[in-house]
Amino acid sequence: GKVAVMFGGSSAEREISLNSGQAVLAGLQAAGVDAHPFDPAERPLAQLQQEGFDRVFVVLHGRGGEDGTLQGALDHMGLPYTGSGVLGCALAMDKIRTKMLWAGMGLPTAAFEVARQETFQADQVGAMLARLGGKVMVKPANEGSSIGMAIADTESQLQQAIEAALEYDRQILIERFIDGPEYTVSILGEQALPAIEMQTDNQFYDYQAKYQSTATRYLCPCDLSEGEEQQLRALALDAFKAVGASGWGRVDVMRSADGEWQLLEVNTVPGMTQTSLVPKAAQATGLDFQALVVAILAQTLG
Ligand code: DAL
Ligand code: MG
Repeated sequence: GKVAVMFGGSSAEREISLNSGQAVLAGLQAAGVDAHPFDPAERPLAQLQQEGFDRVFVVLHGRGGEDGTLQGALDHMGLPYTGSGVLGCALAMDKIRTKMLWAGMGLPTAAFEVARQETFQADQVGAMLARLGGKVMVKPANEGSSIGMAIADTESQLQQAIEAALEYDRQILIERFIDGPEYTVSILGEQALPAIEMQTDNQFYDYQAKYQSTATRYLCPCDLSEGEEQQLRALALDAFKAVGASGWGRVDVMRSADGEWQLLEVNTVPGMTQTSLVPKAAQATGLDFQALVVAILAQTLG
């Protein structure tokens, strides 16, 4: 059948999605799949049916593509699609509710506070900072690719960081700063792939380190013992399932100075450029990019 590769979109991660989508489209076409680009920012969804598409490979990042709204529309149209459904996407897009869920289940995630646009007052930041150990990471609840994020360790920095993040979202996550390396675990089907460790000289693994820097180092295999690697993969798979995610995705985790894992978030449509993390992890198991996209697409037939 005819496959729509949906990418582009109108979120703040549009540029990343364009890169991811072009790579997925090329990979599917090289594998002989009848795949065509479809950008929902340029065309109404009804054209999917008018043009005879019978499945969708979703490569939209961020709101409007990775947050369950598109998935709900596709459910209504009766079109099978790759990756997580409405619930998994919606929960994973919201870092605050993801962390509430994990904390409630006893899965490890750093302490946090929430600032809401309607109720936030600058005189709250001192107490927040104190409760979170004096240094925090500020994140819009529903963004990706580190957009709108900042570190703060003074009241004025925290106030500024929250106000800046409120430009992107009405709900802001303020998380205890984790002083340690970042890892990511890719999920394919029921399987956690080898972990990757990201090393950057930036203050954290930010937008520049993710997409622009040639200095970011990716370790796969990473320097964990076999036992630690297995523990991390099992934790990531539990965290992925906890939010109702399925099919494929990526779980980001840090390790604090005391050696504890700290779950950060789930990405239900992670980056898929030729140099992105999921393709790197797949490659480590002998699955090249083309085989990876074919394997993800095959989930729409089940
Ligand atoms: N949000 C970006 C695309 C990622 O997680 O890879
Ligand atoms: Mg993300």
